[in-house]
Amino acid sequence: MNIAILGSGGREHALCYKLKQSPKIEKIYCIPGNAGTGFVALNLNIDISNFEEIYKAITKLQIDYVIVGPEQPLVNGIVDFLENKNIKVFGPNKFASKLEGSKAFMKNLCKENNIPTARFATFDSLEGLEDFINNSKVPIVVKADGLAAGKGVAICQTKNDAILEAKEILNGKFKSSRTVVIEEFLKGEELSYFILVNQDEYIFFGSAQDHKRVGEGETGLNTGGMGAYSPAPILNEALENKIKNKIIEPTLKGLKKLGGSYKGILYAGLIICEGEPLLIEYNIRMGDPECQVIMTLLETDLMEIIESVVNNKIKQLKIKWSSEKSMTIVLCANGYPQKYIKNSEIKNLNNIKLNDDDFIFHAGTYEKDKIIFSHGGRVLNITSRSKDFKTSKNRILNILEKIDWKDGFYRKDIGWRLKI
Ligand code: AMP
Ligand code: GLY
Repeated sequence: MNIAILGSGGREHALCYKLKQSPKIEKIYCIPGNAGTGFVALNLNIDISNFEEIYKAITKLQIDYVIVGPEQPLVNGIVDFLENKNIKVFGPNKFASKLEGSKAFMKNLCKENNIPTARFATFDSLEGLEDFINNSKVPIVVKADGLAAGKGVAICQTKNDAILEAKEILNGKFKSSRTVVIEEFLKGEELSYFILVNQDEYIFFGSAQDHKRVGEGETGLNTGGMGAYSPAPILNEALENKIKNKIIEPTLKGLKKLGGSYKGILYAGLIICEGEPLLIEYNIRMGDPECQVIMTLLETDLMEIIESVVNNKIKQLKIKWSSEKSMTIVLCANGYPQKYIKNSEIKNLNNIKLNDDDFIFHAGTYEKDKIIFSHGGRVLNITSRSKDFKTSKNRILNILEKIDWKDGFYRKDIGWRLKI
């Protein structure tokens, strides 16, 4: 069959790499893709917010399945749009996508179903906002309600900063929404926990730990993710049972009570405080860069998994995982996550010899006349899997040394919790 993957990040390159191994697939298209996806798939230069153009390509190229990488088209209802046209598509519908698309929706669902999460309040106007912040403890977390490409969260050290940030959101700093969510700051260890869901049934789909802050020692601004490793050593059976019983199952039941249901990948962003999981956020897709490490450990045919979810046959799935340890370090453009350099040539990439357990997943890159240029903030994901995290990290650092790019930087302390 022919498939199309929507998106252009490291996550989508990793999905292409994994799907390329499937004997079920003839052609892989990536919309719009990047230089790396261009090595394993055919890139189609279509804007992923243009559903009609995507539909035209699907019919013209006889694409059988669509796999949606990023959240924006899901929140905008691409699944409903394509399903109405009888196209098979992997991802949640518009209603279920509110779990990520609206933090207020997610927080209210938590409240109604006793799901452990940070205490919060939402505001559509200034009324009561200053009083609420003044009566809270710092640090305090201020979030935009809608999607904000990873930039909608500010951890404020003073009440004044929190009030200023909240006012900016109310004044329309982010196009997606003017509602602001104020949250208690939670201290603990973060865990990305993934499941595949079809309506009432779900199955584990990997765990990872990411590093959200741009600076070493977890300092500086929040980013989309600077590096990750899988599996997450913090996850044990007792913790997993709590995650399922206190968070996942009440969420799926809560959606049902509202007349909805979930299909696709659900990513719970958790914080573990003294052995107890609390939900920070839901994402309705694979994590990026978590996907890169999880895909390198997945042994089952990914297309078989996707078909099982789309056709409600999740119960029959037996997913096999490698027992190895995978890590990825993100090479970013100088300036990221603020204004960063673009169109900068990355030299020597094609000369680097990788063994079967090393991968360079592209994110913000494009190719012109066989030369690779940077294009986005997160540019390359150097990924390695081996018998232990230390070996994986050493191999990654070795590859990073060989990449000749003066305009990039990466965090050298990825995996610091592993004490390797
Ligand atoms: P979100 O967009 O809600 O996932 O938040 C992005 C990141 O901000 C999370 O991965 C955490 O690192 C941090 N964060 C968000 N909410 C909180 C909170 N209530 N307490 C502590 N850190 C938070
Ligand atoms: N790595 C965090 C995310 O994908 O949202």
